[in-house]
Amino acid sequence: MISKIHHVGIVVEKLDHAYAFWRDTLGLPLLREAEIPDQGVRAALLGAGDSEVELLEPVRSDSGVARFLAKRGEGLHHLCFETPDVAGALSALRGHGVALLDAAPRDGLAGRVGFLHPTASHGVLVELATPPRSAAPPESPVRLKRLVIGCTDPQAVARTYQQLFGLPEVEINGGPRGMLGWVGGGTLLMVPAAEVGGMQGMVALSMVAPELRALVSRLEDAGTKMLVGAAELTVEPESSHGVHLHISRYHFP
Ligand code: CO
Repeated sequence: MISKIHHVGIVVEKLDHAYAFWRDTLGLPLLREAEIPDQGVRAALLGAGDSEVELLEPVRSDSGVARFLAKRGEGLHHLCFETPDVAGALSALRGHGVALLDAAPRDGLAGRVGFLHPTASHGVLVELATPPRSAAPPESPVRLKRLVIGCTDPQAVARTYQQLFGLPEVEINGGPRGMLGWVGGGTLLMVPAAEVGGMQGMVALSMVAPELRALVSRLEDAGTKMLVGAAELTVEPESSHGVHLHISRYHFP
């Protein structure tokens, strides 16, 4: 029922400031920006290869996104899967007793959307979306590769996501980690919280930039705080609006 990771949602204080990094420095093309009154946000979708990045700025202090920002600061907020039939997916999940925030789809920036209750997916807020039919995504110099989820029992969490969303499993070399998704598209990597400083939930985002050297120049020119290696770099969260962001040249080193 799920065809890909549609986007990863990031809460930011001000869209204009977030554009300076995500659009102007990383180079992600802006696809759409609009106010979504029932979510109390002004939101933007930026292309990131086959998936997208959604930036969310609260416009009302009583919205869930405003409360998230006040409590946790800027950072990763939700994960959205694309499905051809969001209404059918929500009703099937409801039929299996899965806790939902939306019993029926509503209009969101990504099309017709609905959210599961975070208790359904080990504390991660998951959105399902059926986007309007549109042209092929525009080229982006940086592509979404992987979302890292910290958890107590990665194998159990991977099984839950397989059961809820039918995500394919990706073979990795044993160990306690679990990986789901599409190699060359987007994947979810479940890791023991102990490996990521005890953090639970969405802890980091990995992206791919084939022209890494040019990207490093842009990041340096913008004064980005980062650690640069031979074929990868890690941006400090203070420069990427609270997101632990890892960018490598290749899909698999
Ligand atoms: Co979203």
